[in-house]
Amino acid sequence: MAGNLPIDGRRLWDDLMQLAEITDPGKPYTRRSFSPLFDQGRIWLRQRFEAAGLETRIDNAGNLIGRRAGSDPAAGTILIGSHSDSVPSGGRFDGPAGVLAALEIVRSLAESGVVLRHAIEVIDFLAEEPSEFGLSCIGSRGMAGVLDDGMLRYTDPSGEVLSHAIDRVGGNVAALATAKRSDIACFFELHIEQGLVLQDGRLDVGIVTAIVGITRIEVVFRGSADHAGTTPMHLRRDAFTPAAKTAVFVDRVAREFVSRKEGLFVATIGIVSVSPGASNVVPQEARIVIDARSENRALMDEFLALLDRETRTFASESRTERAVFARLSDTNPTACDARLRGLLRDSANALGFTSTDIASGAGHDAAFVARIAPSAMLFIPCRDGKSHAPEEWAEPDALAAGTAVIAEAVLRFDRGSSTG
Ligand code: HGY
Ligand code: MN
Ligand code: MN
Repeated sequence: MAGNLPIDGRRLWDDLMQLAEITDPGKPYTRRSFSPLFDQGRIWLRQRFEAAGLETRIDNAGNLIGRRAGSDPAAGTILIGSHSDSVPSGGRFDGPAGVLAALEIVRSLAESGVVLRHAIEVIDFLAEEPSEFGLSCIGSRGMAGVLDDGMLRYTDPSGEVLSHAIDRVGGNVAALATAKRSDIACFFELHIEQGLVLQDGRLDVGIVTAIVGITRIEVVFRGSADHAGTTPMHLRRDAFTPAAKTAVFVDRVAREFVSRKEGLFVATIGIVSVSPGASNVVPQEARIVIDARSENRALMDEFLALLDRETRTFASESRTERAVFARLSDTNPTACDARLRGLLRDSANALGFTSTDIASGAGHDAAFVARIAPSAMLFIPCRDGKSHAPEEWAEPDALAAGTAVIAEAVLRFDRGSSTG
């Protein structure tokens, strides 16, 4: 029980499992942003929002929003939610847990006859995961007013332009500027931890202190396609060789940075493509995307300078060209709001749940909403920290507990409680 709010954990769980069924059957659980499955999921969500009595809309940045007015129009809006898109072969909880927890909160408010002073909105942000356009957090960037023209011109492998895709899912890029909000009084996001701190510590919830900064860099090396059998090694211009050297370099430098103990630093190369892609043809082109994350911007800047220098060297050593070295996205570390963190901590205590402060190594929409409103995140445990994989799992009771804590914090925020 959240204060006087009866969270219906069974209903929340059933919603999650129903949404999870809208997935690519061959690659559970996959519901990629902008795909037909994503559209199907949106239709299902919108129906659930409307069944809960919410007034629904798609804002100009493509976010699905359900709204219930408050008693005081001057009080602004309490926003709660997350995202419903997934990574390929991802899990059922990363994103949907936060959207459906938010829906459960507004349902339990209505069933308890509670009318808040603030309006309350449930949101499904568009494309939180890195999309086929190479960009993540598209809807929350739009709401924060930082989805720029260059990003809108990104294309996906089919050649579709991002601005067209946003319009296709119901946004309106021509009026994107009006998606920027100034009425949000606070934002809460429930999310699975995607790590091991809560499970190892047998803790009920994590109160996020800060969200890492994430920089994604695209590097393309270009050489020349040649016969793999008749081209001597000293005459080749093999584009994959500098890419491979870059991968070894990224791993080595990331581990060296970690040993400095100057703050969280991780780097990953999850996208590698080689063309023409035949076993008996020396690669003409190799493309990699590096995902680097840190809570320490100085470390990130040092990494980017080293990466720039070393990729040039690797290219010249293999007589190839570094054809592209581009930052696809670049965000600084984001601190969560101290007052909201206090409300979450007090709410967890009041409900008898154990909590701890925790940094987020994952990126989240909250990092962008924080640019326009006080924002905070609450983590719940996920089994063995596993995420971005079909084995991702969270217990029904953990979901209900996290939902109850945010519901209690919403009530306290609405009453104007300050943290104890
Ligand atoms: O990549 C991330 O950190 C998040 O899951 N989008
Ligand atoms: Mn994710
Ligand atoms: Mn997520």
